[in-house]
Amino acid sequence: MNYPFWDIPHIGSGWVIGMIAIFHVMISQFAVGGGLYLPLAERKALRMTDAEGRADWLKQLASHSKFFLVLTAVFGTVSGVGIWFSIGLTHPEATSTLIHNFVFAWAMEWVFFMVELTTIAVYYYTWDRIDPKLHLKVGWVYAGASIFTLIIINGILSFMLTPGDTWIGVAGSGLEASKFWNAFFNPTYWPSLFLRCCVCASLAGIWALITASRIDGDKQPALKTSMVKWSVKWLVPSFVAMPFLMIWYYAMVPASQRALLTLGIDTINSGTFSTVTRMALIIIVTSATIVFVAYFLAYRNPTEFNLSHAMAVLLLALMATGAGEYSREMLRKPYVIGRWMYSNGVRVPSVAKINAQGYLANSEWVWNGAGPGIPTSHYSRGEAIFRGECGSCHTLTGYRPLQHLLEGRDHANIGNFITMLHENKADSPYRRFMPPMVGTKQDVEDLTDYLNAQVNPPVAGTRSLLTAQK
Ligand code: HEC
Repeated sequence: MNYPFWDIPHIGSGWVIGMIAIFHVMISQFAVGGGLYLPLAERKALRMTDAEGRADWLKQLASHSKFFLVLTAVFGTVSGVGIWFSIGLTHPEATSTLIHNFVFAWAMEWVFFMVELTTIAVYYYTWDRIDPKLHLKVGWVYAGASIFTLIIINGILSFMLTPGDTWIGVAGSGLEASKFWNAFFNPTYWPSLFLRCCVCASLAGIWALITASRIDGDKQPALKTSMVKWSVKWLVPSFVAMPFLMIWYYAMVPASQRALLTLGIDTINSGTFSTVTRMALIIIVTSATIVFVAYFLAYRNPTEFNLSHAMAVLLLALMATGAGEYSREMLRKPYVIGRWMYSNGVRVPSVAKINAQGYLANSEWVWNGAGPGIPTSHYSRGEAIFRGECGSCHTLTGYRPLQHLLEGRDHANIGNFITMLHENKADSPYRRFMPPMVGTKQDVEDLTDYLNAQVNPPVAGTRSLLTAQK
């Protein structure tokens, strides 16, 4: 289409975003939750110092804040840039739409980032150097700024799943930005915000358990006990509210996409569960295990709680986060921006035009064969169509491999399949998660030739087979 295709063999470019995003979410949500944890813990520590003359909590918090600073300001920031880098390459069309709508939101976001980065550095470097009350205030400024980064980015993230009718009504007219607030406070905004807040609080507790686990339980049993127990309590809100919030969230997703939870994909994969259902099960099982480990190993036996236990909890949280982000991604199929832009960058209203004019005629970046930009052989035209239309979700041999998914089908059979994708009839089981194959009859044939050559490779030296089959 309007941008070149970023080919990542085997895993597909989507997974590049996925891997960076899961890592980033673990850290950035800790930055928000931990931002609240630090001043609340510091306030408690100051009270303990006043009442009991204990300074051990303050010392432990200073050390935790170093860990916090390095993790969030270095890895959080770098992975955040990584997300921009990878979405820009993988989904340039969608990134462009987001920027056109939300440039002002991002401008605000970056202001809060600056405040965050500045205050966390000041916070860490001024332990014992400024008045404790002022130090605590710096902590609160950090907490406020980091909550705002979540409040803003949540609008953009939830927009991609559910842009809402008002925005869809003006989409493509050039007036999209006039519906900024409708797009921002879209149908899944609130459930998603509350869900993420719960996750942030849990992550604050989980990461705090990492530093708390390293306190020597023999030498400082009182400190370790109180610190571990206090940190475990941060996990409680999630496990009370999460199920209700998930139901609320799910209720706000359009019915057609909700159907993905129960239908569609399970007809293809072996087994009885759909991918999203399986991911939901992973979330439930890992979360339950976290509760179990946190209660029995941490809360009941705080002095014995060690780094391996804490790492196990972290690993489970990583799995739950990964599964959560993956299901959100699956729920969004076949769109990158709900009901407006398919995952491969094709806008829903341009389907008819591309069907009339051809896919490659609307692709600026296909290499020069004869004529303006259109490759000449069926094979290379098919390859360009495959990359542009299917490559955002499929690879040939790795992730969702078409070579494997089409195995056993002959040329005619593949042709029928592509035609079915092209016609995209209302009763097609595939339209729930795959966009229509757009283009002319010629495009359908070119893609068929290309895919057939991948699945049923022509014998060496008989390249003419390709044309003979037609
Ligand atoms: C929005 C992402 C997306 C795009 C774009 C996409 N697909 Fe798919 N496709 C899927 C998903 C998800 C599945 C289910 C995979 C599974 O079961 O593991 C699938 C399954 C398939 C299957 C297996 C069907 C079956 O019944 O076994 C084929 C063949 C296929 N796709 C071909 C294509 C072709 C050709 C294109 C490009 C014209 C394409 N897909 C574009 C998401 C996509």
